[in-house]
Amino acid sequence: MTSRNPFNFGDLALDESFTDREVELSELKSDVLNGQNVVVFAPRRYGKSSLVWRATQELVSDDDVLVAQVDLMRTATKEQFAAKLAQAVYEQIATPLFRARERASQVFRGLRILPVMTVDASDGTLGFSFTSGHTDTDVDATIEKLFELPAELSAERGRRAAVVFDEFQEILDIDPHLPGLMRASFQAQPDVAHVYLGSKRSMMERLFNDENEPFWRSAKQMELGVIAPTAFAEFIRERFQSTARGVEDSVVDAVLAVTQGHPYGTQELCYALWEETPDGETAADTSFRAALDRVLRSENAHFTRIWDDSPTSQKLLLQALAREPLQKITSGDFRRRHGLPTSSSVQRAVDALLDDELIAKDAPGAYRIAEPFLAEWVLRFGS
Ligand SMILES: Nc1ncnc2c1ncn2[C@@H]1O[C@H](COP(=O)(O)OP(=O)(O)O)[C@@H](O)[C@H]1O
Ligand SMILES: [Mg+2]
Repeated sequence: MTSRNPFNFGDLALDESFTDREVELSELKSDVLNGQNVVVFAPRRYGKSSLVWRATQELVSDDDVLVAQVDLMRTATKEQFAAKLAQAVYEQIATPLFRARERASQVFRGLRILPVMTVDASDGTLGFSFTSGHTDTDVDATIEKLFELPAELSAERGRRAAVVFDEFQEILDIDPHLPGLMRASFQAQPDVAHVYLGSKRSMMERLFNDENEPFWRSAKQMELGVIAPTAFAEFIRERFQSTARGVEDSVVDAVLAVTQGHPYGTQELCYALWEETPDGETAADTSFRAALDRVLRSENAHFTRIWDDSPTSQKLLLQALAREPLQKITSGDFRRRHGLPTSSSVQRAVDALLDDELIAKDAPGAYRIAEPFLAEWVLRFGS
């Protein structure tokens, strides 16, 4: 029997797919146990959700903490947001506290608007929704009560609780007044840790770092970086070995040189590398090149769209950074070498590309393409 590809990208990195992050994991767990609010920042696909999922698993099983998780992605309205909150409170707080299901759903008795409960015929789980057409005041009062329930229920039973909001920057799109409502409620809950995860750095900075915003200085900030090369190298070797394949050290180095330790990008390239390595054999340079081609083919539509949507100054800057990363890009020399426009238009291109998280700043004035594989793609196809 041939084994299954041990690499995985797109889903949460769980169990043996998860590596490193020991420092962040222990810090996050202590913060939650202390009732400390935390905001975890990182670009998309750096492993925020995976990290918090891992922390949650350990907090629930080792420390008896009740953790409700709410993902704001694809939440279009306040009613949908309320429904997600109700679901999380029911499943992750009320059900573990009150073993009987009927009692657990009673926690919603005090809500201004009662959720509509539906039973899934296949597995008997309860689903919650709120109908539209209620007044704004009633919806807000319902949401406020849902914000308070984790604190109330856990305090009654002497348990610790935390609430996690993933893709928190979406909150402003759901309703710009929600942060104020949230903050007012959470401020009165010193024992409950609130954890916010966010992808769009600029938006997170606006929510948390602006003194006119309700979340100003309300949470400790944790910035998640890439995974350290030594930890990732060890993980890659171990994953190959566990499936009776091997990988040359030089190939592991080449993988990490391309991905720079980007969590998703590294798993994506390793997935392709494993596919290109015959059963029982060791991945060498030919497999590596085939794997990179494979990844570039599968990312082609995505990169073509980015390229076509970029104005000329951004295209020129991407080409320059693909050829020569980490140089002082506004310097006259650099601009002449790469045919770049004036330093003020280069600066505007930099700001736009930073905002889209396509490039990153490693030191003052020194940028590189941060989107995995985009530099290779630009060198081959971007013209
Ligand atoms: N700790 C980790 N170890 C190994 N791979 C990881 C880790 N964290 C993330 N990844 C990889 O990155 C991908 C995206 O992770 P995810 O947690 O969804 O990121 P985010 O929530 O920041 O968008 C995962 O599918 C996995 O391939
Ligand atoms: Mg995520």
